[in-house]
Amino acid sequence: MRTKIAGMGYYVPERIVSNKEFESIMDTSDEWIQERTGIKERRFGKAHLETTTTLGARAAEAAMSDAGVEKNDIDFIIFATLSPDYYFPGCGVLMQRELKMTKNEAGALDIRNQCSGFIYGLSIADQFIKTGQYKNILLVGAEMHSMGLDFSTRGRNVSVIFGDGAGAVILQPTDDDSEGVVNTVLHSDGTYAEELAFINPGCHGGYHSNKEQYGYPDTDFGGVFLTQKMWDDQMIFPNMNGQLVFKMAIQKFPEVIISGLNKAGLNVSDINMLIPHQANLRISQFVQHKLGLRDDQVWNNIQRYGNTTAATIPIAMCEARDAGKINKGDLVCIAAFGSGFTWGSALIRW
Ligand code: ACO
Repeated sequence: MRTKIAGMGYYVPERIVSNKEFESIMDTSDEWIQERTGIKERRFGKAHLETTTTLGARAAEAAMSDAGVEKNDIDFIIFATLSPDYYFPGCGVLMQRELKMTKNEAGALDIRNQCSGFIYGLSIADQFIKTGQYKNILLVGAEMHSMGLDFSTRGRNVSVIFGDGAGAVILQPTDDDSEGVVNTVLHSDGTYAEELAFINPGCHGGYHSNKEQYGYPDTDFGGVFLTQKMWDDQMIFPNMNGQLVFKMAIQKFPEVIISGLNKAGLNVSDINMLIPHQANLRISQFVQHKLGLRDDQVWNNIQRYGNTTAATIPIAMCEARDAGKINKGDLVCIAAFGSGFTWGSALIRW
């Protein structure tokens, strides 16, 4: 028994935000952004009208239609995001409500694995399918980053990178050993958890650093989620040590891809299409050259969408298929690295 991708879909908001638009709100330039990241533009959802949940719902509808399944055929939902509508409950149940697919009360699981969220989600779905527990899993990766970024110059190293979007797949069992998920490899190392993180507001109480840094009052009863100091110092946005992320990413991407290939008894030369998480075009190009892959064997769309975190891989995979670049029998490799740090890869025989 294997897990196959029975359908895919994606949704990106209509509004295109060019690098030039950032020039008017912060100290940056189109040239800097393109040179360091490869990004030319990204999409931003309609604030107050669209959310991570609604973007995910649009992608889910497209994937269900592509797979030819109805809402109530879905027996499990996995939703990966780092920009949830609410702290809790998760976007999985919100999307279930949004799509009016509560009739069969399918379980919904939210996962918090940032850039590698889609690969972690695929791995979880693969286990459920292989054990026979579920037959139609809806896996969604979605982000509405634009609601949570610092658009002042202080936040420029992060805000110019991220964009909004969603991608989804329907996963089903197959008896055909020549298709489907070959394997998944998952890793993490929390040593650098704060180097790429969205820390406040939160329940940490200064535990990982010190109370004073965040302005926690002396109290035995907690009850402080957001302090005045966090607000005054605007410590309420994502932060990123870009150089460390870059350095780790270019090491871990090739490692985890090779590890998956080795486990399957395959070689880099067996890969037809590599779809890396779209973190930075320079990272993808480094990985491509390290593995010796041709330009037409790697799908990049960060130029148009920026980094949509959990959504980059399903969006890119869907685009590549629609462009006729992935065909029956092809070996597709997806890989990601990001906050946590968490990273992973998956090999899929189309
Ligand atoms: N516009 C203009 N200048 C900027 C900007 C900006 N948007 N952002 C930073 N700078 C400045 C910095 O302030 C710094 O100025 P200084 O020299 O006067 O101090 C200078 O540019 C260089 O900054 P660095 O951080 O050293 O620039 P670097 O070449 O490392 O590029 C970048 C930054 C693009 C973030 C890079 O480190 C990177 O891509 N790292 C990987 C990050 C990544 O991929 N993140 C996403 C993955 S994680 C995830 O998906 C959740």
